[in-house]
Amino acid sequence: MRRIAISVAASTMTLSLAGCGVLDATGNGADTSPSKGNDMTVGLLLPEKANTRYDKFDYPIIRDKVAELTGKKGEVKYANADADASRQAEQLQQMIDDKVDIILLDAVDSHAVAAGVKKAKDAGIPVIAYDRLAEGPIDAYVSFDNELVGEVQGRTLLEALGPNTDTSDKIVMVNGSPTDPNAKQFKQGALSELNGKVTIAETYDTTDWKPELAETEMAKAISAVGKNNIAGVYAANDGMAGGVIKALKAVGVTNLPPVTGQDAELDAVQRILAGEQYMSVYKAYPDEAEAAAQMAVAKVQGKDIQFDALTQDKVDSPTAKDIPAKLIQPIALTKHTIKSTVIADGIYSVDDICTAKYKAACAAIGLK
Ligand code: GAL
Repeated sequence: MRRIAISVAASTMTLSLAGCGVLDATGNGADTSPSKGNDMTVGLLLPEKANTRYDKFDYPIIRDKVAELTGKKGEVKYANADADASRQAEQLQQMIDDKVDIILLDAVDSHAVAAGVKKAKDAGIPVIAYDRLAEGPIDAYVSFDNELVGEVQGRTLLEALGPNTDTSDKIVMVNGSPTDPNAKQFKQGALSELNGKVTIAETYDTTDWKPELAETEMAKAISAVGKNNIAGVYAANDGMAGGVIKALKAVGVTNLPPVTGQDAELDAVQRILAGEQYMSVYKAYPDEAEAAAQMAVAKVQGKDIQFDALTQDKVDSPTAKDIPAKLIQPIALTKHTIKSTVIADGIYSVDDICTAKYKAACAAIGLK
């Protein structure tokens, strides 16, 4: 009861402070009891390398934002687990041993990591779950609205199939890793759109999101369903969409069915231009990564009001209820939205995308 009263009071205060400009964008909100100054170490644990987002965007954006918020005094200690949950457990232990001030954790295995989260908590180190909702006593969570990611994928796939879609039209589903809670939400969101509209002929959960596994799964699906009977493929991310497309090409499919994806990887954007992949999902990494950096710095500095302002959503994990959270909206990335998403946000330049092979496709949609 007391907790509820406090949190209502805090959010009302946040609103009024934000309203009169006390809480500015640089995060100079009112301090409660600043426990630390700018001299801090933020531990960052990211899950894998196969997907380029982590090394290319998440890490550098968080590093630079922490530096900016701390007058270059704060430091980010980064470790990538390369899709190995036990390696991540060691990396987490190392961060505890090194006495970092806070940990941002993107779990390889959200369930297995709970014991490590508890150890950090016991050592007095707060843990903020980043992108994937880690189990255990986390302090906050920042991610995209993952169910909505799946809905956007499902809806865009239906759009691609067109108005004459029949419930007997066969779809293959290539979902993400069973140890990643996001994968489950992407699947749920997609199914909420697809169920009752098409037939899910084959469905797979793909260990560690491995593109080469997705390729094998797709080859199996082609044998089971027939290469000319697949109306569309739900692939949960771009890496796996690449594997799916390879498998289709390997059996001589030239008129590719619509294939979905996620993450706005550069080669996926190029496949979208070339008409090989229908869509991806653009998740504005700067929004997620900068919010994580702001949350981490505010937490370490004891800026509670600012921290509450940054975490106005609430989520439940299998082990914790009402976790303060920030959930960001994803956007469908198709030929029509390349300009307004990845180009507008400076993720890629036109030169990155429109290499010699894609010049004509770029010109056709006015990308220059
Ligand atoms: C998810 C994440 C996606 C993608 C995927 C595969 O958890 O939200 O952006 O990276 O993992 O790595």
